[in-house]
Amino acid sequence: MSAPLAGRIALVTGATSGIGRATAITLARAGAQVVATGRRAGELEQIVAEVGTCSGSIRAIAGDLDDPAFTTELVNEAGAIDILSNNAGTLSYAPLLDLTDEECEAMFRTNVMATLRLSRQVAAGMVKRGGGHIVMMTSLAAREVYRFGVIYAATKHALTAIASGMRIELQGQGVRVTEIRTGMVATHMRDRISHPEVLANVGARKYDPLTAQEVADVVLMTLTTPENTCLDLIEMRPRKAAT
Ligand SMILES: NC(=O)c1ccc[n+]([C@@H]2O[C@H](COP(=O)([O-])OP(=O)(O)OC[C@H]3O[C@@H](n4cnc5c(N)ncnc54)[C@H](OP(=O)(O)O)[C@@H]3O)[C@@H](O)[C@H]2O)c1
Repeated sequence: MSAPLAGRIALVTGATSGIGRATAITLARAGAQVVATGRRAGELEQIVAEVGTCSGSIRAIAGDLDDPAFTTELVNEAGAIDILSNNAGTLSYAPLLDLTDEECEAMFRTNVMATLRLSRQVAAGMVKRGGGHIVMMTSLAAREVYRFGVIYAATKHALTAIASGMRIELQGQGVRVTEIRTGMVATHMRDRISHPEVLANVGARKYDPLTAQEVADVVLMTLTTPENTCLDLIEMRPRKAAT
């Protein structure tokens, strides 16, 4: 079996669930030395066991990316990171007037501030070493704004600006930045939705969501293009979901 990422260190956030989990496993199987992070240590241990023996490896470091001290510790522990796959994120869907300030702040704290903090620290090391690849998992909500997802969309719009800005400032120093905007993926992200209008809206969709594995396969594709190629932006959605 080929190992296109052999010898590369990949830090994968959101690795306890959904897209991040599938990405951590996929990159390890492609030969990377994966450092997998998320708050739930038990879930991380499960993916270490699931990967087992493969061409790469997987190591778990559990913690909260909202905590700046943990972020610094994580970056120091991970080593010379070649790949950063940013997936950690949170979503509260409800009509704008029904969201609490705390729900709005929590989305900005994790989706924007935690991702920005980690990406800047990792990028600083990449610049010193002369290269690296950062993948930013945003959403189609980074371009469009949907009913009930206004603040989530605002956080993803902010991440798009950050990804674009990092590309402008860092590409000349060898850092590639790829933004992936995906449509609906079947993960645990919507498990906490309880607002009846939102549930009715989600239930009314007429297509099958993407799987986390389908998104992880696209992440691997972006990481294995020729060295001088940079996929800046990928938009993907389930078949039949075009509007
Ligand atoms: N699912 C979709 O339809 C969809 C569509 C477009 C974009 N996305 C984006 O894809 C990314 C992954 O989402 P998903 O669908 O895979 O959701 P998910 O299954 O809910 O996974 C979210 C991950 O983020 C981690 N996380 C959340 N807060 C954290 C914190 N403070 N510190 C560290 N880790 C934290 C969670 O781990 P712990 O709880 O263990 O900390 C979990 O591993 C998100 O950025 C999301 O916005 C998802």
